[in-house]
Amino acid sequence: MLSKEKNELITHTGPGTPTGDLFRRYWIPALQSDELERDGKPKRVKLLGEDLVAFRDTEGKVGLIDERCPHRGTSLYYGINDGCGIRCMYHGWKFDTDGNCTEIPSEAKDGKFRQSIQLKNYPTEERNGIIWTYMGPEEQQPPFPEFYWMGLPKENILVERVWQECNYLQVMENDVDFVHAAFLHRAHGSQAVEEGILSTDLGIDPNHPLVKNPPVKQAVEDTNYGKRCVAVGIGNEEENAFMEIHYIFPFYTYPPRFGGEDGMWHAFIPRDDHSTWAWDVQFAHDRPIDVEAQHERRGLELDENLRKKKNIENEYGQNRDLQKTKNFTGIRGIANQDHAATETMGTITDRTNEHLGTSDLPVIQIRRLLFQQIDAIQNGEELFALDNESLKTLYSDGLYDKKEKTWKEALPLNEQFAKKTKAAESK
Ligand code: FES
Ligand SMILES: [Fe+2]
Repeated sequence: MLSKEKNELITHTGPGTPTGDLFRRYWIPALQSDELERDGKPKRVKLLGEDLVAFRDTEGKVGLIDERCPHRGTSLYYGINDGCGIRCMYHGWKFDTDGNCTEIPSEAKDGKFRQSIQLKNYPTEERNGIIWTYMGPEEQQPPFPEFYWMGLPKENILVERVWQECNYLQVMENDVDFVHAAFLHRAHGSQAVEEGILSTDLGIDPNHPLVKNPPVKQAVEDTNYGKRCVAVGIGNEEENAFMEIHYIFPFYTYPPRFGGEDGMWHAFIPRDDHSTWAWDVQFAHDRPIDVEAQHERRGLELDENLRKKKNIENEYGQNRDLQKTKNFTGIRGIANQDHAATETMGTITDRTNEHLGTSDLPVIQIRRLLFQQIDAIQNGEELFALDNESLKTLYSDGLYDKKEKTWKEALPLNEQFAKKTKAAESK
């Protein structure tokens, strides 16, 4: 349970809010590279409550700028992207990707006035088909995070960006929640799935360790990227199933995967306080990704604004007969099931009314780290710094091992990811 004040503190991320300031100190995926063409249509992107416009100029450079023209406020989304800049449709002021005003046609003298105009803009970095940005103070910009999947060939990766209709925190809390898989994602019967693919659109096979039974034990440990959450489930007569979720501070995760299955990486970027950009990267370690099977499994159909066609208005396509015969929810698509569970809480869930149990350990631990860091930024202290060498090799895996083994023996944390204690740091 959280007080009303603490719930607001941790869920509000607009400019000038403590959590907003904190999140602006980390790199953020903003949009996909193929959403922008050279001299093509600009794209509106709302991030952390800020209305922005992205465009790719004549040279291929990406600009991420304030949507409002600094002259009198018309939306630059409607402007003309041409000749290395975007021109406002109202009086023709023109801006380059760095937010410099390059032309004011109606001013007789081209001089000081034009040079004094600077449009708010954010730096961008393009990797593996994703355009990233950093929205914090220039002097605090951290190194670009080099995630494991960024080192894989392009054809091994499938990226999806979705507008999710609720606050980032409940989306992220769902992602570190082992128990929900055993209910929300359970299919009633066994089904044939392609090798390496977790499930069909109905859900996960009832014999898969993620859904066979809720975990009998969970643990969370501190790491140099955030938290590692471990769950132990009943596997078979001799063996338990050991699984892990990585929470990478402040809004990235690797959900659980088992025995070499294709991996998954998520980022939950507040669009505003009532909606989230849910990023999903599916990756196969050593072969091209099966695009069709993964799309079907996730089951999301999106409109041109990346909103879901199956949504709360049409009850996510829930079919009560399907719920009796085929899966726990009556909803098709693993991602649809997650969206239904988190969006039906209300856009910002009222945490003054929740009742967390022992199985909610990862949720509790992640909030704790977020609150610590919210305190740190408010007190001007140093913030959690991601270790790039760790990120290069980190992803989730799971395995069966003897029942006598502890989770630390069966699925030990690679030393490389251990959180350095103050004493070790000063050596
Ligand atoms: S409002 Fe954009 S040029 Fe006037
Ligand atoms: Fe889920």
